[in-house]
Order: sequence, then C-alpha cells, then structure tokens
Amino acid sequence: MTEKQNTTIYQCPICHVNLNAHDKSYICDNNHHFDKAKEGYVNLLPVQFKQSKNPGDNKSMVNARRDFLEKGYYQPLVNCIKALYLKFTNGEGNFVDAGCGEGFYTHQHNTESNQVYGVDIAKEAVKKAAKKYKECQFNVATLSHLPFKDASVRWIMSIYAPILEQEFTRLLESNGYLLTVTPAPNHLYELKSLIYQDVQKHNIDKEPIEHLTLVHQEQLNYTMKLNSGNDTLNLLMMTPFAFKATEAIKEQIAETENFQCQAEFLIKLYKNLNNKKPSYLKE
Ligand SMILES: C[S@@+](CC[C@H](N)C(=O)[O-])C[C@H]1O[C@@H](n2cnc3c(N)ncnc32)[C@H](O)[C@@H]1O
Ligand SMILES: [Zn+2]
Repeated sequence: MTEKQNTTIYQCPICHVNLNAHDKSYICDNNHHFDKAKEGYVNLLPVQFKQSKNPGDNKSMVNARRDFLEKGYYQPLVNCIKALYLKFTNGEGNFVDAGCGEGFYTHQHNTESNQVYGVDIAKEAVKKAAKKYKECQFNVATLSHLPFKDASVRWIMSIYAPILEQEFTRLLESNGYLLTVTPAPNHLYELKSLIYQDVQKHNIDKEPIEHLTLVHQEQLNYTMKLNSGNDTLNLLMMTPFAFKATEAIKEQIAETENFQCQAEFLIKLYKNLNNKKPSYLKE
C-alpha cells in the first residue's frame, strides 16, 4: 500500500464513522469489516442498498465502453475536463469520479498532489478499473449513500452518470467543485438515426443543481470518424439505445466502415460557495 493509499476519506457505509485502511481490509471504529478484493478495490455497498443482484452497467456494456474509449475517440473530452481540473485545483485535493465505470476518465486525473477515487455500483466495472489503474482507489457503492466523509472532496466528476445533488454537496469541501458531463442535443445523432425513425435530440434544459453555483459552462462538438464497424458497435453497446437496436441493425453497423458521427458534450462546472440553501432544506 502506498503512502497515499494509507490515508483515506472513507466512512463506514453502515454507521458512518471513520473507515481505517489496513493491509487487506478496511475496518471502522465500530469494527465493521470490509475486505479488499484481490484487484485492490473494496465493496462498500451493504446489501440493503442493493436493489438488484447485479446493479449498474452489465459486463458487456463495461467491455464495450473500455474497448471504445481506449481507441481515443473521446480524447477531446478528456483534454477539456483535465484542463479545467488543473486550472481550478492545480491538481490538488481529493478527487472523486462518481459513476466511474471502468475508470478510463478517473485515472487520467491522477497527479502527484491528489488522491483519486472512483466509485460505481457496477462491480464488474469497478473490478476492471481496479485491475488496470493501481494508482487510484476504487470502491463499489451507491451514489445515493456515498462512503466518503462530509466536506472531504475538492472535485467531484460525473460523466454520463446520475447526479445526486444532495449527496454530492455533502461530500464537497467549501469552495470545492462538481463537474458534470451530459449529452448535448446532437450527441450521436447519426448513430441514433440508424435506430429511430424520429430521432429526438437530447434535451439540455433541465437544471437539476440548485445548491451549487454554476461557474463555467461549455459545449464541445466534433465529428468522429469511426474506423471500423466494431468500434461503432462498441459505441452503440455502451449507450442506452442499444436495447432498441435489432440484430439486423447491429449486423449492418458491424459491416459499415468509416461511419461518421457527431460527439457533442455539455460540460458544466459548479462551485460549492455554501451560500445557497437547497429547496430540500427550505421550510
Ligand atoms: C453511462 S455509464 C458512464 C461511466 C463512466 N463515467 C464513463 O463515462 O465511462 C454510467 C455509470 O453509472 C453507474 N451508476 C448508475 N447508477 C448508479 C448508482 N446509483 N450508484 C453508483 N453508480 C451508478 C453505472 O453502473 C455506470 O457505470
Ligand atoms: Zn461501521
């Protein structure tokens, strides 16, 4: 265990007191034990928070995402969110990727002066992340009951994952940040056109965050040239509309080379200025 990994901001998911790192497990001050898996991650999801046997993304979605992301098609997004992270924090403090999947974005935020955590409810994803990215600490947990101490995190990142404002706000230090990446209207428009007759553009009007202050917003748009049918199929398989695609469409996609498709991301950065009272706390 490295020096960095010896100190953690974990709290016990059962009784919420400090969780202390030992060689092979984490133990809370009230003696609840959580063993480290051989891949190095820890399961901090008590059964009562588990709403199905295997919650979150399944293995084939996780594998498709790993294969697709490693081809570099979303590198412009990585460059953009990393630049924001370094600009606003200098790469310091505790970093949490909330809904980290297989860790592709998580590990790219590791610096000499921070500690990077990745959390996801999908065990298959966390296992894959922990196996590859040893410099980060991964855990299985639910975003609605995150196993981190209050006000312990400087930067929370949420990429295409549920945004749980109340819980994220609890975690953030004063002046800490939440970065969200969600699909902008034209995201994957051409891929969706293969599946739906009447393609709906993503609606970005929703403003779910009310306690934190929006300090930066940008839209990133570029055209991806997908080199192989397999890459396009992986892209499809990591999206929710994969469930709508027939076998015939999947075969057609697999056989199409040089498919062009727009990527369009909405990036928002919020700051915890501690001066806005959320509606759930208002009388
Ligand atoms: C679309 S994937 C994005 C993964 C990763 N951020 C990325 O962009 O590659 C959404 C992730 O959120 C996770 N997730 C969904 N609901 C969750 C919850 N309640 N608690 C923790 N993770 C959750 C899923 O398991 C999945 O890995
Ligand atoms: Zn405990």
